[in-house]
Amino acid sequence: MFVNFRRINKRQCVQLMTTCLVLSLVMLCWEQLDNRVVSHVKSYSYRYLSNRFVYVNRSLTISRQQARVFSDFRYLLDHPDKCAGQDVLLLLLVKTSPENIERRNAIRSTWGNETYIQNHLGVTVKVLFVLGAPPTKEEEPSWSKRSGVGFQEHLADEDRLHGDMIQQDFLDSFHNLTLKLILQFHWTHRCCAHARFLMTADDDVFVHMPNLVSYLQDAKSKGVTDFWIGRVHRGAPPIRRKDSKYYVSFEMYQWLSYPDYTAGAGYVVSGDVADKIYQAMLTLNASLYIDDVFMGICANAVGVSPQEHIFFSGEGKAPYHQCIYDQMMTSHGHVEDIYDLWEAATSPRVKQRTSGLVGRLYCTAVKTYLLCRPYNFNTYPCKAAYS
Ligand SMILES: *[C@@H]1O[C@H](CO)[C@@H](O)[C@H](O)[C@H]1NC(C)=O
Ligand SMILES: *[C@@H]1O[C@H](CO)[C@@H](O)[C@H](O)[C@H]1NC(C)=O
Ligand SMILES: *[C@@H]1O[C@H](CO)[C@@H](O)[C@H](O)[C@H]1NC(C)=O
Ligand SMILES: *[C@@H]1O[C@H](CO)[C@@H](O)[C@H](O)[C@H]1NC(C)=O
Repeated sequence: MFVNFRRINKRQCVQLMTTCLVLSLVMLCWEQLDNRVVSHVKSYSYRYLSNRFVYVNRSLTISRQQARVFSDFRYLLDHPDKCAGQDVLLLLLVKTSPENIERRNAIRSTWGNETYIQNHLGVTVKVLFVLGAPPTKEEEPSWSKRSGVGFQEHLADEDRLHGDMIQQDFLDSFHNLTLKLILQFHWTHRCCAHARFLMTADDDVFVHMPNLVSYLQDAKSKGVTDFWIGRVHRGAPPIRRKDSKYYVSFEMYQWLSYPDYTAGAGYVVSGDVADKIYQAMLTLNASLYIDDVFMGICANAVGVSPQEHIFFSGEGKAPYHQCIYDQMMTSHGHVEDIYDLWEAATSPRVKQRTSGLVGRLYCTAVKTYLLCRPYNFNTYPCKAAYS
């Protein structure tokens, strides 16, 4: 096309410049956008075309001897008799870090209070905190340094007071979360294999214990096996951007998609699954440090797949409302508000206000408003409004 530059007027000039600006902006963003879109498309194709992940299983299988480096850490705190001789409905293991004492105390006096659960819900639930070793002397927090005794001393004191901490001698860090996962399944196998269900949760998760207990009692009476529930991630691609917290190199994991797994913030498995996962862990290379993905790899190796439960929020946070409390199981990202939330969510008023025809209609309307708005990704899905 022939362009006569003299004939370009002011308006066209502005149009041309705007176009150039927009194009360059798009090109700047394209690489990121492109990476995300392309990696998800590839990942989904891989997930749904060849979804048994046999290659993953085969290439991560190592000898029992080699796998022992991931579990053979010395126990610094342990309670081998915690479950002995009791009919445990649920063993709840909370992943925590040495410095999170406030969070542990909040859990102990709200949803993780074993005495309360026994007295009010009539079942035995064991709640234990799982952690690694604190950093060495130079790196420990100032409050611990000032007091003159080491960080580990503080943890031992806390454990003497509450008797609910399990700790192994590996550095407690984000990149060692898979070691913490392995610790949980090894400990369960050794000390609490008869628990009907095992749950693992973050220390900033709120668990609606009465709802969870009644759900699990129901599942127990049906004799469920091969049971694994939570917020399911299907066909998730490994993140290859080096600046991401979840970056995984090709050497560590070379495929386009992870096997299905549940968000690590909180999920429940039945006792038989806990045992199978333990067995898988004995022969898998656990250097992949994203613990919930590694759980997915173990489950895949023993033929267990996760089921979605719409009231497990995964990484998301539930809206604050009575109509939500009536059905919620877990919600993520609660620290300061945990006492108030526990109070509000377990109040007898919740059941009164949400029952009956009028109560149910009202709640459907409220939940539709709270959960079905556009861009509402980070909480329960919209279909939870109609369940
Ligand atoms: C746990 O609950 C019991 C009984 O409801 C109560 O007496 C006790 O103070 C609670 N524990 C904590 C740490 O709040
Ligand atoms: C994991 O723990 C081991 C054993 O304490 C330690 O040597 C290693 O540096 C830790 N890894 C990370 C990434 O923190
Ligand atoms: C486990 O995988 C890592 C790569 O993520 C590799 O460097 C290591 O050699 C593997 N271990 C064994 C025992 O094969
Ligand atoms: C995974 O590998 C193990 C050991 O090679 C094998 O026993 C198991 O059957 C495999 N699982 C699947 C689902 O292929």
